[in-house]
Amino acid sequence: MLRPVEPVIAGDRAAVGDPSAACAPCHRAIYERYRRTPMANASGSAVDGFIPADFAHAASGVDYRIFEDAGQVWLSYERSATSPDRALKGQRELRYFIGSGKRGRTYLFEQHGYWFESPINWYAKKQLWDMAPNHLSAHEMPLTMPVDPGCLNCHASGVARSLPDARNHYAAEPFASGGIQCASCHGDGKKHIASEGKIKMLDIDALEPVRRDSVCLNCHLEGQVAVMREGKEIEDFVPGDTLFDYTLFFVHKQESGSGGRATSQWEALFRSECKRKSGDKMTCTTCHDPHGSPPAEEKVAFYRQRCLQCHTSAGFAEKHHPENRDCTTCHMARPPSNDIAHEQVTDHWIKKRISEARLPEATTGELETVGGIRASDRELGLAYAQMAARGDRTAGTRALELLSRAEHSEGSATGDHDLHAELGFLEQVDGQTERAAAE
Ligand code: HEC
Ligand code: HEC
Ligand code: HEC
Ligand code: HEC
Ligand code: HEC
Ligand code: HEC
Ligand code: HEC
Repeated sequence: MLRPVEPVIAGDRAAVGDPSAACAPCHRAIYERYRRTPMANASGSAVDGFIPADFAHAASGVDYRIFEDAGQVWLSYERSATSPDRALKGQRELRYFIGSGKRGRTYLFEQHGYWFESPINWYAKKQLWDMAPNHLSAHEMPLTMPVDPGCLNCHASGVARSLPDARNHYAAEPFASGGIQCASCHGDGKKHIASEGKIKMLDIDALEPVRRDSVCLNCHLEGQVAVMREGKEIEDFVPGDTLFDYTLFFVHKQESGSGGRATSQWEALFRSECKRKSGDKMTCTTCHDPHGSPPAEEKVAFYRQRCLQCHTSAGFAEKHHPENRDCTTCHMARPPSNDIAHEQVTDHWIKKRISEARLPEATTGELETVGGIRASDRELGLAYAQMAARGDRTAGTRALELLSRAEHSEGSATGDHDLHAELGFLEQVDGQTERAAAE
């Protein structure tokens, strides 16, 4: 029997399947506050996160319905035989939800152990159902969007390792408990609990800055392109590790801002004078309380106080725009997001003057790593190869050059599957069929 996942929606969360409940007896206030956050409710069982739908998608002519029947949640889809496109009819049981619903929610379903994302999503701001991002005007039904451990690693806890044949194939349930748990940031707490707090937890603030920052960046950094370091798996990351020992993130050098991506706060901060001038002192928790965001009525004062931790010069706070106490309205833009459809994100590039226009996402040009980490030829080559796959021809040439060099450099492992697969692909595109076959 598959392991059931307990509901995580704030309310009557049962102790079973809620690992964070083990911390509650001694840290009650933090537990109670944290469990109401979007992070704590980032995923769970579909029944608990059920939002009924009746949605007709014009571009594809498919009618969707999400409904509950005898304690199970179903997605049905139908396209009539009179449609110019192929008729369709079927249903899938939705098992889990992903997304607290603050911005949006999607659902997961399973077919023979392979897990997929629902073709339709709930968009909170507009209070409507629509196609999954990137499929808004698709003519076909996207029923094969794989749910890999990378996706789950950012949205759930106790993520299972996928089976060797496919990244979305799991032997049992894909994750053990919904939401981001205490352990997602604090690491394993067994010894700490057994010793009633005498054996200390990892001291996050005392970690070397890159390790401290990695606690959040593990889920809040994607870049335009991510390249796994050779032989590493993101599922192995634990708090206290350096994220960049697992993954390198790349963005286009000339990109103006965060490209409007949702998980781009770090990239954007790095472009801010605040971060450039204050260095390691500034991190996510300089402005965010990891256990809960301030209620709406306290937000302005809360973030203002965070800015004024550093902007302390005499008389500044009193004289600088006393008519408006919200520092962020003038210095942090909220342009529409490019990758969470129908949503806005807070641009973490703090600027003197901002614009609320959609941030252009650069699609060609030179790549650089986020955080100034040095990339090897292999890593940079794999990054360019991903841009090439998205249609950038110049990137294809660079990738071929870099990966060929990496292949012949000393210490290059012949078992580097990623490198050889990409080289083979690029050589094929380049017309070097014999070499491609060898790869
Ligand atoms: C690198 C980590 C990461 C990966 C990978 C990732 N997400 Fe997210 N996702 C986030 C973060 C962080 C947010 C919150 C965005 C924000 O508020 O800036 C988010 C937001 C969302 C939301 C909106 C939730 C809400 O209501 O706020 C949905 C739905 C979602 N992601 C689904 C997915 C799915 C499905 C996948 C995989 C196919 C995926 N994400 C992959 C980190 C990730
Ligand atoms: C999103 C990451 C994150 C999650 C999830 C999280 N914490 Fe924390 N916690 C931190 C960070 C970072 C600190 C370090 C202090 C700071 O910067 O606020 C901290 C500090 C603490 C502290 C010591 C300081 C204090 O505020 O008293 C306790 C105790 C604690 N957390 C308990 C918990 C418990 C219990 C849970 C789960 C209910 C939890 N945390 C969930 C990130 C997290
Ligand atoms: C049996 C009681 C107990 C339980 C259960 C417990 N803690 Fe603690 N915790 C303590 C005590 C006692 C301290 C020390 C408080 C102090 O020194 O102010 C502490 C301190 C902490 C700190 C601050 C750093 C440190 O180690 O001193 C963190 C973070 C923390 N706990 C996280 C957790 C998390 C996460 C869990 C659940 C996995 C948890 N605790 C479960 C008793 C407990
Ligand atoms: C295991 C993955 C994970 C880790 C670690 C993590 N986050 Fe998150 N965080 C998320 C996801 C996913 C969301 C979006 C949840 C949703 O709405 O469904 C989110 C949302 C947020 C939000 C938005 C909350 C809101 O009210 O909209 C803030 C702020 C945030 N995280 C800060 C942090 C900070 C600071 C840290 C490090 C101390 C951190 N996160 C660590 C995954 C993570
Ligand atoms: C960790 C310290 C720190 C925090 C927190 C911080 N800043 Fe800054 N900020 C700086 C430093 C250092 C500079 C460089 C100029 C200076 O010394 O005043 C700067 C520069 C700026 C600039 C000028 C930008 C430019 O391009 O010239 C603005 C605007 C600004 N900060 C606004 C804010 C706002 C708004 C907040 C809160 C949301 C904030 N800062 C939080 C340290 C910080
Ligand atoms: C200088 C202060 C500051 C720093 C540093 C900062 N944030 Fe924020 N962040 C904000 C403000 C202000 C908002 C908007 C809050 C709101 O409107 O509710 C925000 C919003 C968010 C949100 C909610 C989604 C959105 O786009 O509005 C997430 C997620 C988030 N920050 C993550 C992070 C992460 C991860 C880091 C570290 C890489 C970080 N932040 C560093 C000030 C900061
Ligand atoms: C009503 C809009 C508005 C508000 C509110 C606002 N600022 Fe500014 N701020 C500006 C503008 C415009 C500039 C650019 C002035 C210039 O170009 O000389 C600026 C400049 C700055 C600078 C650069 C140094 C300087 O004096 O030129 C800093 C730092 C700064 N603001 C921080 C803050 C902080 C911190 C808050 C909240 C306490 C805040 N601002 C609130 C509009 C605002």
